[in-house]
Amino acid sequence: MLYFLYVGVLLKYDTKKYRYFRFTPAEKYRRKGVNMKTLVWAHRGARTEAPENTLEAFSLAVEQGADGIELDVHMTADGEIVVAHDDTLERVSNGTGPIAAKTLAELKELDFSKGFPRYSPARIPTLAEVFDLIKPTGLTINVEIKSGITVYDGIEKKLVRLAEMCGMSDRILYSSFNHYSLMILREIDPKVRIGLLYNEALIDPHLYAQHVRADAIHPYYPTLMVPGSIEGCKKSGILIHPWTVNDRSAMRNLIDAGVDALITDVPKVALEMLGR
Ligand code: G3P
Ligand code: CA
Repeated sequence: MLYFLYVGVLLKYDTKKYRYFRFTPAEKYRRKGVNMKTLVWAHRGARTEAPENTLEAFSLAVEQGADGIELDVHMTADGEIVVAHDDTLERVSNGTGPIAAKTLAELKELDFSKGFPRYSPARIPTLAEVFDLIKPTGLTINVEIKSGITVYDGIEKKLVRLAEMCGMSDRILYSSFNHYSLMILREIDPKVRIGLLYNEALIDPHLYAQHVRADAIHPYYPTLMVPGSIEGCKKSGILIHPWTVNDRSAMRNLIDAGVDALITDVPKVALEMLGR
């Protein structure tokens, strides 16, 4: 691999395809092997203090000083992209049934403040509304595509178009447990950044990441105990973004190991541990 550095833009050349990405300064230096501090990404927003995946939880993450937010996306019956974790409504709202069976207008009637009455009524945000909120901040958005239990045909094209329309393409890193969905996304836009979500104790995840030309791995954090996982990624320039790291001693170990970002429900705790 050859790397060419232009003003603020890293051009990565490989023998198969000519591609370029825009990186934040921290990511750029990490790729060059410079040890930078671990970033903190708020998982579904600051979800222990406000209803998860709502504008309220994302605003709180911004206020607390997180470097990024993680969120989950689904598609409504009328083809809108909305932000929510589950395929169904019961756990976090006063609605019932699958998100895919409701129109955006129907979903907007529901209250998503379950467990946080002082935030009532909290509305489900569209991804465009989250972009509007986050655009003026420097935060990265990790968009997790929840196309698996329910398969959302065409969601990848909609995501790429929406990000372009909102001027957010270079602020997003997409992830999914459905790696095929990530490949479709990159076919549509070769510049997208992608992170591979997984749960299992894989051997040499960097080899797979290189094979599919992913930018990052998003492992369930205990799986990083497999010898060589972290070292392999670091040598290969694959970023490491473990989830969901809420335990203090795990945070400490992962920060010391030099992972690139912690995806956590408790961004305040991680930021404090990093002395920020
Ligand atoms: O992106 C990390 C994490 O969010 C993946 O699991 O179930 O919380 O979406 P889940
Ligand atoms: Ca998620």
